Amino acid sequence: MFPFLLLLALVSSKPIPEDLGNGFYYIGVNDDHITLFEGQYPVKNGMAYNSYMAKAKSGEIAIFDTVDVHFANEWLAKIEHNLKGQKPKYLIIHHMEPDHAGSIGEFMKKYPETTVVSSRMAFVMMNNFFGTDFKNNRKVVKEGDILRMGQFNFYFVEAPMVHWPEVFVTYEINSKTLFSADGFGKFGSNNKDEPWDDESRRYFIGIVGKFGDNVMDLLKKAGKIQINTVYPTHGPILTENLGHYIDLYVKWASYTPEEDGVVIAYSSVYGHTEDAVKKLAESLGKKGKKVVLHDLNRVDPSYVVADAFRYSKLVLASVTYMGDVFPSMKGFIDHLVSRNFKNRKVGFIENGSWSPTAEKVMRDLLKNCENLDLINVSVKLRGSVTEDNVKEIENLAESLA
Ligand code: FEO
Repeated sequence: MFPFLLLLALVSSKPIPEDLGNGFYYIGVNDDHITLFEGQYPVKNGMAYNSYMAKAKSGEIAIFDTVDVHFANEWLAKIEHNLKGQKPKYLIIHHMEPDHAGSIGEFMKKYPETTVVSSRMAFVMMNNFFGTDFKNNRKVVKEGDILRMGQFNFYFVEAPMVHWPEVFVTYEINSKTLFSADGFGKFGSNNKDEPWDDESRRYFIGIVGKFGDNVMDLLKKAGKIQINTVYPTHGPILTENLGHYIDLYVKWASYTPEEDGVVIAYSSVYGHTEDAVKKLAESLGKKGKKVVLHDLNRVDPSYVVADAFRYSKLVLASVTYMGDVFPSMKGFIDHLVSRNFKNRKVGFIENGSWSPTAEKVMRDLLKNCENLDLINVSVKLRGSVTEDNVKEIENLAESLA
């Protein structure tokens, strides 16, 4: 189904040249000032909003997606520079989230004769955002439609819930280029050199982790065609070793662990619960297990959620707090559940000097997740780590190993 070789060479983010070849041009922008993407995901290396131009030998020109409205002027200047006095014929909008659609209004003020090409639902959203659905100069497209423009044949494929319901992607048949919208995107500006996998995983799990089945539907369609190049709306253009990225996407979308290992996520207040998880990590390490420790009070949950999806096993360790679980643990589990966390083995450590409830609460919070193997061996601290707790920790390590 996925006719690509699994190779290990990885692309990293770096400036994208303007002339991409085959009549395509890069006209996207880098946001090096943003600190929280979508108001919640820390992006220490900023964000890229990619946009592309296709110039046909016939003289016709199409623009693919816009950029965040705060970068509209920079983007419009790039368009003007590459138009070289010509006018755009089409503005193709794959996705209406404002990081890509925010500058439609500014664009249409400058180029009002352009035909906007998008899905029926996207035009409803345009009316919501811009007060017009461009009914006098629009083209509604659906699955299987082809827009012919000079040497280009743009084939449209619906991709609902990757990431919003109106999304579609475009496959240019002759050059075998996939305009993948949010698919295959990542956090990080294209000005910064960083590996693709980690920030793409955190982006994918955070943003479309809930919609794995929809992503699998799109991957099945993509598996039937030859793809030479992927033009995402975030992050670098992908041209080599596409099998690597597709293999990761299949794992993420099917909730399959990438590798065997134990993530220990803990909420500790005075350090006793932290003592216990460090003892567990040490024991697992001696058994040859890969272990990743995350202090939920100090690490943004998006990093921990990404690792929980990366590895095969998870240990949740929390103090009891106000008859409940500690707030950072509660928030973390909520992030997991809302992203359909499944197909993993989970162990527990609880602490509570009186009326301990953390383990029960954590188990209850996970009760609707599918195919979780909840380990019955647990570690029950009542303050500091006792000799009995050390034995419990060893038993838990045995269950995880
Ligand atoms: Fe990058 Fe769903 O927008």
